[in-house]
Amino acid sequence: MTRDFWIGTGWKMNKTIAETLDYLARLATVDLPNDVRVFVVPPFTALAAAKRAAAATPVLVGAQNMHWEEAGARTGEISARMLTEIGVDLVEIGHSERRADCGETDATVAAKVRAAIAAGLRPLVCVGDDRAELEAGASAEAVVRQAKLAFAGLTPAELDGGLLAYEPIWAIGENGRPATTDHVAEVHSALRRMLDARGLDGVALLYGGSVDADNAGPLAALDDVDGLFVGRAAWTPEGLAAVVHVARSWRFGDAGAHL
Ligand code: PGA
Repeated sequence: MTRDFWIGTGWKMNKTIAETLDYLARLATVDLPNDVRVFVVPPFTALAAAKRAAAATPVLVGAQNMHWEEAGARTGEISARMLTEIGVDLVEIGHSERRADCGETDATVAAKVRAAIAAGLRPLVCVGDDRAELEAGASAEAVVRQAKLAFAGLTPAELDGGLLAYEPIWAIGENGRPATTDHVAEVHSALRRMLDARGLDGVALLYGGSVDADNAGPLAALDDVDGLFVGRAAWTPEGLAAVVHVARSWRFGDAGAHL
């Protein structure tokens, strides 16, 4: 099965509407390769403007979260229907910052994945191991379990086109240290085996956590990596473009031959 290759950036609680429009205008001047599916995940307030600005470009736009219920007394929450009205291309579910700060659990992640799929939204599910799991050699086991729970009961057809991002908690953000290529290869291969055993070969596997233009190449060249999910290094359009070009050349170009 050939899956698309994805590179995207989650902006977290960053960027106003004006900053989003400036980013997308600058990104539109960059020559992006047509064999990489590029996406940005702005905050909710900038989503509608981002979708309009990106309409004439190949850049896809995702949301950072959604609620599992269709509507109701859920102050401060956003439903799938509100996102489909904007026309978002994907929705991030279960980022470790939301699991840590906002009480997101495997059960709420699973409910959201189901609701997203029912609404026709492409889920981008994030799973990650913590430092204790890493030190115990239990990284693969931990994230395979999270992914199984997120996808429980869903069919290959429902999950076709879905995205699953392995984002080690210890690798994310200012205090994160990037995972080694060997570690990513091992965990992605475990995730791939689990997905394939369930017939979920239409789910693409992304890696995220301190990805930048220096480490993106070898990660992108790994067999079981179908894309990269980038934070800080892609918060400028030039940063995103640099990661896309390095990753693309290792993935599809001659640089991969140096592995
Ligand atoms: P980072 O964030 O690249 O800044 O470590 C990654 C993420 O949280 O998805």
